Amino acid sequence: MNKTLTEIINSRKSIRAFLDKPVDNKVIEEMLKMASQAPSGGNLQPWKIYVINSSSMDKFINFQKKWKGKEEPPYPIYPEKLKEPYRTSRYEVGEEMYSLLGIKREDKVGRLNQMLKNFDFFGAPVGLFCFVDKQMGLPQWSDLGMFLQTFMLLAVDQDLDTCAQESWSLKQNCVKEFLKVPDEYILFCGMAIGYADKDSKINKLQTTRRPIDDWATFVK
Ligand SMILES: Cc1cc2nc3c(=O)[nH]c(=O)nc-3n(C[C@H](O)[C@H](O)[C@H](O)COP(=O)(O)O)c2cc1C
Repeated sequence: MNKTLTEIINSRKSIRAFLDKPVDNKVIEEMLKMASQAPSGGNLQPWKIYVINSSSMDKFINFQKKWKGKEEPPYPIYPEKLKEPYRTSRYEVGEEMYSLLGIKREDKVGRLNQMLKNFDFFGAPVGLFCFVDKQMGLPQWSDLGMFLQTFMLLAVDQDLDTCAQESWSLKQNCVKEFLKVPDEYILFCGMAIGYADKDSKINKLQTTRRPIDDWATFVK
């Protein structure tokens, strides 16, 4: 808890394998309260959060296995024909991840099985779901991002690890039924929270960023 903001920002990364080590809901509650200091247009604070932890996590995983309802993606997670340079960035992170795991391009089953680990929260003890009222538009969805990043940085400060998971949007109906979320809300993403399994290969993944000249212009 004595880390500088720079250390926290630089050490946050997405973790995709967790230890079976519990996290107290009180810690999560404090982090959520603090994350709500994130700014939002008009101070709307449009996030609606559900947390599952230990016994409710077990119940949810069980519920999900037995769930027989229908899902339809509520919106495309990525644009259909992703332009450059975004396409390459997305491609590279996928390739780096599968190469670390030794899963080849043609091993479609191996890739699918790895993707499906999202729906087990990668073994994390805590799962968070972030919903937003369907009435809200693009500006409010961007507020969710600020809230979630603030939360993920606070997690680092607590020596906790996270992975934001938009893949959960594909399981809207199942998640909403389990949590009994009113229909006016839409699920944006989930988040795995816990302690990283530092020995796991996938957690060695270290992503990079495009250079600043690609996306910032200093007008002279
Ligand atoms: C909103 C959001 C949703 C994401 N969804 C997923 C996901 O469903 N599954 C996954 O493995 N990673 C997911 N990620 C993690 C990104 O792949 C990751 O942030 C990116 O590759 C950069 O790596 P880093 O977080 O380690 O810096 C998501 C990240 C964000 C911000």
